[in-house]
Amino acid sequence: MFASIIIVSIMEIIMINLDNFSSFFVANWKLNGNYKFIDNFIEEFEIPDNNSKCIVICPTFIYLDYTIKNKNNFYLGAQNVSQYEGGAYTGEISSTSLKELGIEFCIIGHSERRQFFKEENKNVNLKCSQLIKQQIIPIICIGETLEEKKNGKTNEILAIQLKEGLPESSNYTNTIIAYEPVWAIGTGLTPTLEEIYETHEFIKKHNTKFINYKILYGGSVKVSNAKEITSLSNVDGALIGGASLKANEFKKIIQD
Ligand code: PGA
Repeated sequence: MFASIIIVSIMEIIMINLDNFSSFFVANWKLNGNYKFIDNFIEEFEIPDNNSKCIVICPTFIYLDYTIKNKNNFYLGAQNVSQYEGGAYTGEISSTSLKELGIEFCIIGHSERRQFFKEENKNVNLKCSQLIKQQIIPIICIGETLEEKKNGKTNEILAIQLKEGLPESSNYTNTIIAYEPVWAIGTGLTPTLEEIYETHEFIKKHNTKFINYKILYGGSVKVSNAKEITSLSNVDGALIGGASLKANEFKKIIQD
């Protein structure tokens, strides 16, 4: 009894130190995967322990528990969380439940949630707060649509998403930013390397608060472009959808 109280207390104070990692590779499996898929993935995904690279796999909620019990060299992330801590909110999943399961990261504000589930910056902000309270690292997705890009509004949109989407409690030690241009997600299109560099530079420099945040790039990252993108000095890793569903491809992206 006493020992278990100590273990719980230790778990409560331990949070991942993001500065321990040289880069981050986050697999966003979206609404894909089942037990067989996960078994095959884990079998194929065997990679040598390299503590400097932080690998995070984000299956659907229902498979988090199974994946965490069978995982090898990676962390587990959720793809969403409730903005509420508990109560009469049918169908929601709380940050406290994620914590109890041992989840260490959580994607929030993905453009698919903003587009199909009408999430707004204010909802993202509340979700972020809930996660930070539980010492789960939010990976907040921001990005412009093609129309906003064409109208030269990219930086303005990103600044608003960060200002409104991040709570006071967020800082570079407890939150990761993922820049994902909406028009690049699942399309095979990507910004030029120069554009990615400049946008990450804008994110870091438009407000001194952001200078030390880890910033990932996401949107059509694959084996053929991952290395050049993640080699940019202000890109701390990648958030990967489609290419993360194939263990060999995901492994190659990480090992290249
Ligand atoms: P994609 O998705 O790699 O398939 O473009 C990225 C994402 O939606 O996070």
